[in-house]
Amino acid sequence: MDIKRADRLGRLPPYLYVEIRRKTREAQARGIDVISLGVGDPDQPTPQHVVDALARAAADPANHQYPTGEDRGMPKFRKCVADWYARRFKVNLDPETEVMALIGSKEGNHHVALALLNPGDVAIVPDPGYPAYIASAIFAGAEVARVPLRAEDGFLIDFDAIPADLARRAKVIWLSYPNNPTTAIATVDFYRKAVAWAKRYDVVLVSDNPYSEISFDGVYIPSLLEAEGAKDVAIEFNSMSKPYNMTGWRIGMAVGNAQIIGAISQVKQNTDSGQFNAIQYAAMAALDGPQDIVTRNLAIYRRRRDLAVDALRAIDLDLQPPKATFYVWAPIPKGTTSLDFAGRLLDEAGVVVTPGIGYGSRGEGFIRLSLSVPDARLEEALARIKKVKDRLPVGAGL
Ligand SMILES: Cc1ncc(COP(=O)(O)O)c(C=O)c1O
Repeated sequence: MDIKRADRLGRLPPYLYVEIRRKTREAQARGIDVISLGVGDPDQPTPQHVVDALARAAADPANHQYPTGEDRGMPKFRKCVADWYARRFKVNLDPETEVMALIGSKEGNHHVALALLNPGDVAIVPDPGYPAYIASAIFAGAEVARVPLRAEDGFLIDFDAIPADLARRAKVIWLSYPNNPTTAIATVDFYRKAVAWAKRYDVVLVSDNPYSEISFDGVYIPSLLEAEGAKDVAIEFNSMSKPYNMTGWRIGMAVGNAQIIGAISQVKQNTDSGQFNAIQYAAMAALDGPQDIVTRNLAIYRRRRDLAVDALRAIDLDLQPPKATFYVWAPIPKGTTSLDFAGRLLDEAGVVVTPGIGYGSRGEGFIRLSLSVPDARLEEALARIKKVKDRLPVGAGL
């Protein structure tokens, strides 16, 4: 029998990381020792006290049944998240109604789309942006409208530039700072503008904030919920994945508007039933335990960031050190394409970087490097890039 996939799968753009993995395998098959700077997935281990908390909780039969708190997470977990938001952002949350556990922030992005968007509704997604927002909106049958993030605006959404008719038709807008891929950061003032705009046009703000703990040089990263009145119109996702090296554990949280949390919860009741209690206990150990792991990670990423920026400047790319995330977003020479440039880096240096076009048409002209690879591999990759400088596209602009 010929199995036909649902039409919605055909509407998805090719998933960037799948494409990168395929190209990497092809290069490896040609005998190249490929170093991938393509995917943001911390190379350092999860802290031991978190692993121990999981082992203890996993051994307790009380945790072997369906997750407690139905789909919203254990009351203890929700309280722990509310306490963390109060400590970290001075944001007060009701653990009963304004907090829920997620199977990673990616899950939140997906389920908020299913919870809020009807077929034909408009979802605004920044360009460039994390590809999963588009996929989630498409799965919900929504129409996706892209709004540009421009270097001259610090890659912040320019709310004044969103046409009023689009704003009136939109039901949801995604925003994410510190931003993947551009590494841009937002201020509370920017979030105030977002809240005012959302209230004016009745649009839900979806703030995807999994990089809130990854910033350098003393830069403060706020939560969208720090803007007054944000809870009237906004939901925020955060995650254990990046600060605690826990991408594989699949645990995060949604915080904010109680009605939106309720709607996501209804979707989860009918899909995944929530995350394993033992993993929630591990996440609590991460949030409540010693935070030296976060500081250590930042020191590692900062050193790698400086090495990467130096190497890219040595091949004449013109960039500033990013202030947040573990990515470097580098402009490539004018007159060449990001696919060409990335392809040449793979062929000549055996190094995978992500072409900016993969994040949307406004990502053209940039490549993204991830710093979440072991030091020795990163150093080798950067040395190789410097060595092949003469064989990289130079374009018309240089
Ligand atoms: C912007 C953004 N959101 C969400 C995720 C997924 O995070 P999680 O592991 O919490 O699902 C990523 C991972 O790369 C990301 O870059």
